[in-house]
Amino acid sequence: QSERTALKHKIRHLLKVRNAVMVSHFYVHPDLQDLAEETGGLVSDSLEMARFGRNHAAQTLVVSGVRFMGETAKILSPEKRVLMPDLDATCSLDLGCPVNEFSAFCDSHPERTVVVYANTSAAVKARADWVVTSSCAVDVVQALKEQGRKILWAPDKHLGDYVQRQTGADMLFWQGSCIVHDEFKAFELQALKADHPNAKVLVHPESPPDVVALADSVGSTSALLKAAHEMSAVTFIVATDNGMMHRLRSLNPGKIFIEAPTSGQSATCKSCAQCPWMAMNSLAGLAHVLETTSNEVHVDLELSRRAQVPIDRMLAFTA
Ligand code: 13P
Ligand code: SF4
Repeated sequence: QSERTALKHKIRHLLKVRNAVMVSHFYVHPDLQDLAEETGGLVSDSLEMARFGRNHAAQTLVVSGVRFMGETAKILSPEKRVLMPDLDATCSLDLGCPVNEFSAFCDSHPERTVVVYANTSAAVKARADWVVTSSCAVDVVQALKEQGRKILWAPDKHLGDYVQRQTGADMLFWQGSCIVHDEFKAFELQALKADHPNAKVLVHPESPPDVVALADSVGSTSALLKAAHEMSAVTFIVATDNGMMHRLRSLNPGKIFIEAPTSGQSATCKSCAQCPWMAMNSLAGLAHVLETTSNEVHVDLELSRRAQVPIDRMLAFTA
């Protein structure tokens, strides 16, 4: 406990010394979420993390999340220093969409508008017409459909499936998935729902379609928080990374949040839905990078210039 307190104290001090601001995702350790909020930074979803980093005056951004979040921050603010507690914190969607194969896929469908999820490398974004997050994917694809466009979608097939069903757009999918959300199971979720008949089910759209079909609310991390706040139910079953539980519980005292079942769940594993890469962010890592200014995110400038175009489109669309 005292080591934790000392690290937090050190981080608060170093943020001031370095004129730095913290940006944390809802999935990272509660300490990193709370510190961001207490120190005038942001804890949010991937869309608002991108916007906040771009708009904030601080010259150093410390991004607690996964690699694509740090890269997006750097692409949007090439003049700023972007640090991350652990540069190896990647994402299965990013890993599952290597740029050369993805480019070849795009080349073989030149008639399609390329829409990629933010959970991709800078190189993949540079090949896209649009970048989206789960906060705006449905609206962007709907707008493109109304312009008569056919879509090439990458990399998350489950989010793509959800967007396709919501919009009816003509979409061709890359077959990627999130190793965390892919583990939620519809059969077990049905059983849990039967045990809690008044519970409402909140599902992130990276989950499989049969899990999404059981949801009372489907959306990005911030959309799920909003739904939990606005719905009058007392009990909620939540199908997303369990890092979200901290925020859900602290913003909704009196409501009960239960983790949706995953295939890996057992008596010894009460919290299986945890992104291994988000979990790489730690207080010690954060203190270390602030002290040494190591772990700086770099993106090739030419690549960055190209990747910025579809990211800017997303930020303008959602402004
Ligand atoms: P959000 O954009 O909903 O925050 O999700 C990011 C993510 O990585 C979900 O797994
Ligand atoms: Fe990627 Fe899934 Fe982790 Fe989100 S939870 S960062 S999509 S691996």
